[in-house]
Amino acid sequence: MAETTPDQGEHTPEESEPNPEHIMQVATGVWGTKVLGAAVDLELFTLLGGGELRATEIERELDLHPRATRDFLDTLVSLGFLERDDDGDGPRYRNTPETAAFLNKDDPRYIGGAIDIFNQQIYDVWSGLEDSLQTGEPQGVIDETGDPLWEEMYDDPIELEAFAEGMAGLSKGNFVAFAEQFEFSEYDSMTDVGGALADLSRIVARRESHLSITTTDLPEVTELARERIRADGLEDRIDAVSSDYNTDPIPDADLVTASLILHQENLETKRTLMEKFYDAVNPGGTFVAIDHIIDDERKANTMGLMMSLNMLVYYGDAFDYTGQQFVSWAEEAGFEDVQVQHLNGPTSMGIAHKR
Ligand SMILES: C[S@@+](CC[C@H](N)C(=O)[O-])C[C@H]1O[C@@H](n2cnc3c(N)ncnc32)[C@H](O)[C@@H]1O
Repeated sequence: MAETTPDQGEHTPEESEPNPEHIMQVATGVWGTKVLGAAVDLELFTLLGGGELRATEIERELDLHPRATRDFLDTLVSLGFLERDDDGDGPRYRNTPETAAFLNKDDPRYIGGAIDIFNQQIYDVWSGLEDSLQTGEPQGVIDETGDPLWEEMYDDPIELEAFAEGMAGLSKGNFVAFAEQFEFSEYDSMTDVGGALADLSRIVARRESHLSITTTDLPEVTELARERIRADGLEDRIDAVSSDYNTDPIPDADLVTASLILHQENLETKRTLMEKFYDAVNPGGTFVAIDHIIDDERKANTMGLMMSLNMLVYYGDAFDYTGQQFVSWAEEAGFEDVQVQHLNGPTSMGIAHKR
């Protein structure tokens, strides 16, 4: 009799046989980004809050098309961003503990602004990645003015605030980790350079009551930082100073910090900034750079490497850097005892001491 059941072993791919699954996962990754981005944009997680709703209720509240509702919600379930119960009367959806905490606008831990930035970047700026790869030129240029995208953004107060909030969403976890891990007791003063909405300063100020803190940024952002410092009742503890780190001296302090600053500059400005940071640190003090510092072998920190490509498409010659590079620039500037310490996820801090 003819054999009709194939021998499974004969057709089971060998362990070593190449499998396209990972390629396809990355290739379709943008779908997940868009689904999450749409859910944040439509404020689905805020609508759900701490409760649950039926698909039909969500459809009505968010004005979804009936063709789209179940695919949208169930994709979010499958991605791990919603939970679903089914009691026979139709499915009910609720937030996961993570989306309830971080994607509900009514929760102070909200980081949806960061999702908005990624969601928009993918299409607006990253669509020119191939061009940047071949020319080294940034894509974030508005044709009519020739100004980089983010400079345009700073002319529009609403966009500026949204961008700054988004940036804060990206950084807050790093700032909490920094506040928890760093030993502040030997310092009396701190300056955070390019501190945006003063999130790092406000988080540290609440824990370290002995520190006198200065946060600096460009004028438009400094005004927003002042509002937030006042709202937190921290105006006696944090001074928000409008200061351009390229042209003004950096306010001196025992501890100088710069989060997501070095990575947005080219090599020449990085070196100049390291000298300015050195001048700003009081003798016996410390400089801390917070960035997605790339592993020295440039293999493991995918986020750091992709962030560096992000700097390529935004600025052209700006780039993220390895721990070794940080050590060499810091030592060139005169710092001693330079180390890199892991902070949170793909983020590390470069720590450099001044004798
Ligand atoms: C990538 S954001 C980082 C913000 C914040 N430190 C964080 O980690 O979330 C860069 C910040 O640098 C500020 N910035 C850019 N150029 C600057 C300059 N020349 N002087 C001072 N701040 C500047 C921007 O306004 C922005 O707030």
